[in-house]
Amino acid sequence: SRKIGVLVSGRGSNLQSVLDRIADGYLPLEIAVVISDKADAYALERAEKAGIAAVAIPRKECVSKEEFEGKIDAALRAHGAELVVLAGFMRILSGNFVNKWTQKIINIHPALLPSFPGLDAQGQALEYGVKIAGCTVHFVDEGTDSGPIILQKPVPVLNDDTEESLAARILVEEHKAMPEALRLWALGKLEIQGRRVIVHP
Ligand code: GAR
Repeated sequence: SRKIGVLVSGRGSNLQSVLDRIADGYLPLEIAVVISDKADAYALERAEKAGIAAVAIPRKECVSKEEFEGKIDAALRAHGAELVVLAGFMRILSGNFVNKWTQKIINIHPALLPSFPGLDAQGQALEYGVKIAGCTVHFVDEGTDSGPIILQKPVPVLNDDTEESLAARILVEEHKAMPEALRLWALGKLEIQGRRVIVHP
């Protein structure tokens, strides 16, 4: 089955949702490597528990962004990854890196893009006062959270929501959205036509 590399920075609940859906047979994929920019990310422990190569590449140990991204690129290629999945990876990848993986990077973002790109998307949504929030899975281009959208899932914003309660409601949908998008990719159902992703039946 096709190999993916997963980039993480922290908790790794989205990584776990992918691991679980590989284990139950929904996702015809293999995770070749999990790479974290934080050495203490719990996501690395999740990978190790699943018997998957887990690599820490701390940004602070690299003299430049070029060196940092070069190490990530080398680890992905060494493990035979065909697709890069950003699952709570909290750094912006340079145009140079993105161009090496054209149409081969998928990100999940906790907002209905193009609203609320960047950091603290759930807080931005509460602050704005929207009534519908959600998550987006999209291909990565050179912009920030700006690439072609694969799928989105909405959730309501409730009167008494805090950032935590809204983020938790969105996260439930993230854990469905990423496996769905990856299954479509693995089955060859996704075709990028300009800004639009065609999902073949
Ligand atoms: C998720 O909500 C993900 O959408 C978000 O970080 C969280 C990671 O949780 N990603 C971003 O905000 C990207 N800019 P996880 O580590 O438990 O998957």
